[in-house]
Amino acid sequence: MTPTYADLNPSPRVLLGPGPSAVHPRVLRAMSTPILGYLDPEFFAIMDETQAMLRAVFQTHNEVTFPVSGTGSAGMETAIANFVETGDRVLVCINGFFGERLAEMASRYGANVERLEKAWGDVFTLDEIERAIGGKPIKLAAIVQAETSTGALQPMESIADVVHKNGGLLVMDCVTSLGGAAVKIDEWNVDIAYSGSQKCLGCPPGLAPFTAGPKAIERLQSRKSKVPNWYLDVSLLSKYWGKERAYHHTVSASLVFALREGLRIVLEEGLDARFARHRANAEQLWAGLESMDMTLHVPLGHRLPMLTTVRIPSYADDMKVRARLRDEYNIEIAGGFGPLKGQIWRIGLMGYSSRRENVTLLLAALREILGEKPR
Ligand SMILES: Cc1ncc(COP(=O)(O)O)c(C=O)c1O
Repeated sequence: MTPTYADLNPSPRVLLGPGPSAVHPRVLRAMSTPILGYLDPEFFAIMDETQAMLRAVFQTHNEVTFPVSGTGSAGMETAIANFVETGDRVLVCINGFFGERLAEMASRYGANVERLEKAWGDVFTLDEIERAIGGKPIKLAAIVQAETSTGALQPMESIADVVHKNGGLLVMDCVTSLGGAAVKIDEWNVDIAYSGSQKCLGCPPGLAPFTAGPKAIERLQSRKSKVPNWYLDVSLLSKYWGKERAYHHTVSASLVFALREGLRIVLEEGLDARFARHRANAEQLWAGLESMDMTLHVPLGHRLPMLTTVRIPSYADDMKVRARLRDEYNIEIAGGFGPLKGQIWRIGLMGYSSRRENVTLLLAALREILGEKPR
């Protein structure tokens, strides 16, 4: 018998995890627009606009700024594959899951990886980074600005100076921060950065905004070996996203439409107003959680506004609470990774998910569920 399949009808989840976040309705509409071919002049104009808006959100003038096809990890791999050669000395700052992933990728591309490690939830001081470099030549240093696995926000001021002084390039992961907190590529002198469409930009997953500055491009042009990853080769991708418009691969028009609309919404709201909204909703969440005697994992001074980590009360069952939130209230939050597994919940208020009504709903649901347990 031929199997039959029901109409697609996913539950209307309130996405309050570490991403994906809710897609803005205007972005959903943009995605249902008929697509264009990847060499259509109309599509080129849309690409130009998308790149211009990306530069504004990254706060950069970098010519090489475009979305890479793929998720945040494709952005990460672009940053590593293009700027690392076999035997290069690479310092990776690891204070969470995504720092680990950077180290893993760098080692796969043949780097001589040095790990600077801190506890999950801590951030790095300038001094610690400088001591790890030790005044010796370095090719690349990589750091995560917003560690989604821990909820910590890394201060970025002056890190690039320390790396540049020793001949290196600085890679910054801003997958979770872009569109929700300040990402100042030019002011911070960050050489290479990447993000993801599915967090504070309010788009579905599938594109990784990427930017690289003049020093990075110079390094790329003087590589001794070919970039070992054809799909993510920045020189080839730049020929499509730059003036030549030479075919490289079939970019998803629907995802570019989505990103263009997501970025338009970011800029209409204004960067500062958007960051203030993320912060205000986070503060309301923090106050609500603390009023329920819960403890926040990261100190206020370096706490992410778009991803809160809260310690699971000793009387609560991690999996059961999250399953009830999902099944009874349609709310998604996440648990912890690695050393924080079973220790914390991760609550995202990103992009279109960062709304006051979502905070109120989650707090009310948690109060109901946790209130049933004897304290
Ligand atoms: C900080 C950070 N870096 C990288 C990634 C990887 O992105 P993706 O899962 O979209 O490939 C994530 C995903 O959550 C992230 O939070």
